[in-house]
Amino acid sequence: MKTNIVLIGFMGAGKTEVGKILAARLGRKLVEMDRLIAEWVGKPIARIFDEDGEVAFRELEITITREVARGRNLVVACGGGVVLNMINIDRLREQGRVIYLHASPEIILKRVSGSTERPLMNTPDRAQRIKGLMVFRKPFYERAADMTIDTSRLSINTVAERVIRKLGEDEGFCF
Ligand code: S3P
Repeated sequence: MKTNIVLIGFMGAGKTEVGKILAARLGRKLVEMDRLIAEWVGKPIARIFDEDGEVAFRELEITITREVARGRNLVVACGGGVVLNMINIDRLREQGRVIYLHASPEIILKRVSGSTERPLMNTPDRAQRIKGLMVFRKPFYERAADMTIDTSRLSINTVAERVIRKLGEDEGFCF
């Protein structure tokens, strides 16, 4: 039986916020992958990108994912690019159900508008960057997902409720 709830999706899709609600409601531990990486390296994600580059960040992401994927009864909020390396998804799937939180590019743009912490949003034309990355990543998210929820018009509470409901109908998942 799978016991981990793994949230994937684009930046601003609500992975961390929904993860917090799920963890509180289900009495589980929330693991924020980016936070773990930043703690492990001792600097924020933006500085890792800046000083070491995206490839180095992706390697760290693979290492941390391998450790997190071994846990049980976790709610895992992944970084938006975790799907880019299929090994991450294979590992996260061993003990978990992968839930893809989707949102339209327009909604994502609004949700990340105040963000200064996201290196990939550090560009003069965020709308264009979001659209380009989304087109490229869509097949990665879809291939990784056991289930998908469009969060564009939903509150984070409603998204969390839907996750719980869908997992309740899932015979291979154990709360
Ligand atoms: C990234 C998303 C970020 C973080 C890093 C790269 C991405 O996480 O891992 O900035 O490639 O989409 P969030 O999705 O939590 O913003």
